[in-house]
Amino acid sequence: MIRPILLVVTPFSQEALEPLQEYFDIVQWQSLPAPEAFCAQHGSGVLVLITNGMVGVPPPCRDTLANLALIACNGVGYDAIDLGWADARGIRVINTPDVLSADVADFAMALALAAFRRVPAADRYVRENKWRRQGAFTLTRRFWGSKVGIVGLGRIGHLIARRAAAFDTQIGYTGRRQQDGVAYAYFPTVLALAGWADVLIVATPGGADTCHLVSRVELEALGPEGVLVNIARGSVVNQLALIDCLESGQLGAAALDVFDDEPQVPEALAQSASTVLSPHIASATVQTRQAMAALVVDNILRHINGKCLISPVN
Ligand code: DGY
Repeated sequence: MIRPILLVVTPFSQEALEPLQEYFDIVQWQSLPAPEAFCAQHGSGVLVLITNGMVGVPPPCRDTLANLALIACNGVGYDAIDLGWADARGIRVINTPDVLSADVADFAMALALAAFRRVPAADRYVRENKWRRQGAFTLTRRFWGSKVGIVGLGRIGHLIARRAAAFDTQIGYTGRRQQDGVAYAYFPTVLALAGWADVLIVATPGGADTCHLVSRVELEALGPEGVLVNIARGSVVNQLALIDCLESGQLGAAALDVFDDEPQVPEALAQSASTVLSPHIASATVQTRQAMAALVVDNILRHINGKCLISPVN
C-alpha cells in the first residue's frame, strides 16, 4: 500500500516527528536534491505539510498538492499561507498560538531594555578593551517610568503590557477597537500612539492588513528620543522609512527581531549605532520550541484520527 507523504518544508524537530512515522513517509524539503521534480512526481501523495508563517506553501509545489488536507504552521503567524486558496480546496490550517506568547513577550522586553540601556554596545565596549583605554561608557536612557505603546494588544501584546507595567511604565495601545475591561490608555491610531509613546512595541500579526502600519509619519511622531521594537513581522514596519529616520536622527533607536526578506538584513541597519538586532528568535527557547512542535504533531495526529483540531486557523 502506498503510504501518504508528510512534507516538512521548514526546520522541525526530528524527535517530535517520531510518532508520525507510523502513518507517513516523512520527506524533508531541505534534503530534496530537486524539490520541484519531487513535487511533480509525488505531490499528489502529500497529505500533510509542515511549514511556518514566513514560508507557507512553496510556490513550486502548490499546484501539485492535489490531495493536501492539512497545513500545519509551526508558529503563531500564518501570514504566508493563502487562506482563501486553502479554504477553496478544503485544506485545514493549524498554527501554534499561546505556547509561545510568554517567551515572545519576554524577548520584547529584552529588546526594549537592550535599546534603552544600550546593552549590546556596552558589551562590545568591554570586549574591544575600550573601557580601559577610553574610560566610562556613555550614559544611557532610563526605561522605567517611560510610556510604552503596544501596537496590537492580542495574546502577546497583553503579556508585554503586564511585563512592562512591572517596570513602572505607563501603558498605551492601539488595535482594531478599544478592549472592554482593559485599563491601559487606548489610542485609535498608530500615529496617535506613536505621538504619545517613548517606545512603540509592534506585536500585531503580519499580512496584508498590517503591511506598513508603522511608516515614516509614525516613526517621526515617535521622535528623536523614541525607540521602536518589532517582534512581529518585518512587513508591519516600512523598513526603508525606518532606515531613513534612523539615519536622519528623526528616530532614536530600533530593536528588531524581524525584517523584510529574512535572513537578509540591510547594511544600513547592521552598521547603525542605533539598532539592536536579532535573527527572529523571540520564540526560540528550548521549552517553547518543544511545545510548538508537540502542538503541531498533536494536531496532525488528531487530524488523521478524525478528531477536532486543537488550534485550527480556518
Ligand atoms: C511565529 O510564531 O509566527 C514566529 O514569528 C516564528 O517563530
